[in-house]
Amino acid sequence: MAAITYRNASCIYEGSDKLAVDSLNLDIADGEFVVLVGPSGSGKSTALRMLAGLEDIDEGAIEIGGKDMTGVPSKDRDIAMVFQNYALYPTKTVAENMGFALKLRGVPADERRRKVEEAAKLLDLEPFLDRKPAKLSGGQRQRVAMGRAIVREPQVFCMDEPLSNLDAKLRVQTRTQIAALQRRLGTTTVYVTHDQVEAMTMGDRVAVLRNGKLQQFASPSELYDKPVNEFVAGFIGSPAMNLVKLPVVADGVQVSESSTLELEREQLTRLNGLPEVTIGIRPEQLEIVDSGGIEVVVDLVEDLGSEAYVYTHAGSGSGVELVARCNPRTAPKLAETVRLRKHPDGVVHLFHPQTGARI
Ligand SMILES: Nc1ncnc2c1ncn2[C@@H]1O[C@H](COP(=O)(O)OP(=O)(O)O)[C@@H](O)[C@H]1O
Ligand SMILES: [Mg+2]
Repeated sequence: MAAITYRNASCIYEGSDKLAVDSLNLDIADGEFVVLVGPSGSGKSTALRMLAGLEDIDEGAIEIGGKDMTGVPSKDRDIAMVFQNYALYPTKTVAENMGFALKLRGVPADERRRKVEEAAKLLDLEPFLDRKPAKLSGGQRQRVAMGRAIVREPQVFCMDEPLSNLDAKLRVQTRTQIAALQRRLGTTTVYVTHDQVEAMTMGDRVAVLRNGKLQQFASPSELYDKPVNEFVAGFIGSPAMNLVKLPVVADGVQVSESSTLELEREQLTRLNGLPEVTIGIRPEQLEIVDSGGIEVVVDLVEDLGSEAYVYTHAGSGSGVELVARCNPRTAPKLAETVRLRKHPDGVVHLFHPQTGARI
């Protein structure tokens, strides 16, 4: 087990004119489960591969357990990787697949067997130890890949979208198992995903990347409650936060000809004379009310059974689009005119209309 530090670590691929990872700084505590999340191409895999020693660090450094890893080959970093494509040896049994790295290391057969059995127990794979991978479900194969990493008892687990090949239900189950297992083993883990739900449910802390640059590194609740910029605000949460650029008026922002959204005095002060501002409100913090609020027309109702999302627009023409969560039993109808209000304990986030930074 070990702490990990990325210190201004950058990577540029040959022939590219853009940094794939741009001056990344992360301090990961010993035993922590950190998720790197971001859209495709944001540099997540590259950042992980730099840690594992599979990509060069062109600027800056990465430390594991306080030791600078510059020049340390991958095999000497004591890291176990789990990938999306967890190629298992088809002709070897589950036990042989799991124990193979130990065999290469020259670990005696009885010790190997003991470690494999321990890992199999953790992963509910005991009944399958003598089977070949072809006779396993996708989820079981994924657990064998995990088992292969666990038996090595590494300082660090690196996982790159390990659940992408599983169907939706299995993904939810397996993500819970991985998170629980990591907590039991206490092995420092860096986990890459493009799925913000996975990131939010698994990570102690989550690093949001965009274009190779770190946007925010914080606990799931902090990312949700206090996104540092418009990008993080829109990326974390589903359906996404409502984000609209609106003119600033005396007591708030103008949503349509007939409706304004009031801001708190202290928020207006922070705007410091800006003529317009991007406001953010989460769908679950908007409610449908009988009077007051913002007049909107319903464009679509998405009924999920336990909750419904109402897609609306305010004002004439294309207008400002707003999504609100409501009770599916009392959801409005298509084309109906209703009124939306910020929930009393909801928050209006403010972002700079040009830079997108939180105000
Ligand atoms: N082997 C490579 N050669 C050149 N460019 C690459 C290579 N791998 C990734 N890139 C580029 O580096 C950037 C980051 O990629 P990557 O780390 O794979 O992103 P992510 O894992 O977030 O999808 C992207 O612009 C991608 O096109
Ligand atoms: Mg990737």
